[in-house]
Amino acid sequence: MTANDTASADRVIIFDTTLRDGEQSPGASMTLEEKIQVAELLDEMGVDVIEAGFPIASNGDFEAVSEIAKIVSNSVVCGLARAGHKDIDRAAEALVHAEKRRIHTFISTSPLHMKHKLQMEPEAVYEAVISSVTRARGHTDDVEWSPEDGTRTEHDFLCRCVEAAIDAGATTINIPDTVGYSVPEEFHDLIAMLLDRVPNADKAVFSTHCHNDLGLAVANSLAGVRAGARQVECTINGLGERAGNAALEEIVMALKTRNDTMPYTTGIKTPLLMRASKLVSTVSAFPVQYNKAIVGKNAFAHEAGIHQDGMLKNAQTYEIMRPEDVGVRETSLVMGKHSGRHAFRQKLGELGFELGDNALEDAFRRFKDLADRKKHVFDEDIEALVEDEVAAASESIHVIALTVIAGTGGPQKAIITLDVEGRHETREATGNGPVDATFNAIRSIVPNEARLLLYQVHAVTEGTDAQAEVSVRLEEEGKTVTGRGADPDTLVASAKAYISGVNKLMTRRQKSAPEVMEAV
Ligand code: KIV
Ligand code: ZN
Repeated sequence: MTANDTASADRVIIFDTTLRDGEQSPGASMTLEEKIQVAELLDEMGVDVIEAGFPIASNGDFEAVSEIAKIVSNSVVCGLARAGHKDIDRAAEALVHAEKRRIHTFISTSPLHMKHKLQMEPEAVYEAVISSVTRARGHTDDVEWSPEDGTRTEHDFLCRCVEAAIDAGATTINIPDTVGYSVPEEFHDLIAMLLDRVPNADKAVFSTHCHNDLGLAVANSLAGVRAGARQVECTINGLGERAGNAALEEIVMALKTRNDTMPYTTGIKTPLLMRASKLVSTVSAFPVQYNKAIVGKNAFAHEAGIHQDGMLKNAQTYEIMRPEDVGVRETSLVMGKHSGRHAFRQKLGELGFELGDNALEDAFRRFKDLADRKKHVFDEDIEALVEDEVAAASESIHVIALTVIAGTGGPQKAIITLDVEGRHETREATGNGPVDATFNAIRSIVPNEARLLLYQVHAVTEGTDAQAEVSVRLEEEGKTVTGRGADPDTLVASAKAYISGVNKLMTRRQKSAPEVMEAV
């Protein structure tokens, strides 16, 4: 059975490309472990197709697609490939262990892209469409074909290419608005035109792939669905290059909430949307804007007195969706320092964490420490603590102790002790501020030339005793990694975040250098 078997008059296939188009956006790179975590959640959430990466792009991408293919049990796993046979064969190789696999192959079809990017004549592109889809069909029955820059492609040529792709065996035709240039009416008419004019259009599912450069990605995708598309390509939090892709949570909730005007369904378990949003935001270090639809911190907050009054009388006065339908929970006071292991394990289960005995023991010890230092421990505290613990478990360098002398009379000074593969090393350093001093002290133990591209702090809960969650983004030789750490002490959280980034750089260095792709 392929994903397309679930498509029907009213069922829309959700194709998530967070791990490919999302991860491709500068600075959003994820480690293998993080990609697996995201894939597991997408699978659990009911995503029909997970585009796990672009296998020929690098060894890391190949490994990610291959590992995800092994662990996903419900979703189709998809790998992207350009039109060349080497790309397609590499994608097939990465997908070999998938229970359900799809190859997604693409080539540019707009005059601008064919002339300047590909430097190919239209007839050569047309031939490449046929040969790439034929090659992909040699590996799997589930083949998707995309005309890159589809919305700026001449209609006659687009119809010819789509017809040829379907004849060659493509089962999904995806129409990308690669540069986010389209507007809803136009995108609707483009899909309607293809369904009307391409003689074998009934043999494939049509799909939308909209970028958000004009803020219209979701509107364009929904217009495509209205016109007859039955697959939407999207990403969690709208992550993606430039202004991003259509946001999965917005598409799904718009279809659910306005089913009266858009009578289509998806297979998404919407109460998992918030968890997916938080996970993707954490691993990519791309914060979710407070007023972001569906998953923003303020999406269900009602500050204005007049709204609060209405809400108290009847929630529907100002709420078009129920917070619990997207996984927004009332913040609850968890437990205090007298809470036991059993209650802690139960709370972890409610929050969606499953830890082995050792990890549970470590997390419980940290919870006790936190409860000693912080009066109220909330769900968010537990989440930050466990995420920190899970990330640190796979790292070889850890923060043991940190003392910082800060204040108005600089230079500030930091004394740090790190555990480096079982050895304890202590160094001190000064710096222009306490964070600089801390990072300098770390660098004196673990030398590196990485550039700090981002340093951000956010408070996990309210109150001056809140835990700080710090994210950093480091760049080395053109590649970026993110690191994060949580602690009630902002400087300890900063040191943990920096060390977590350094651990990832070291893992990356140990892996072989990625291949360089030509622009085809
Ligand atoms: O935006 C785009 O055109 C793409 C294609 C590879 C589908 O991401
Ligand atoms: Zn794209």
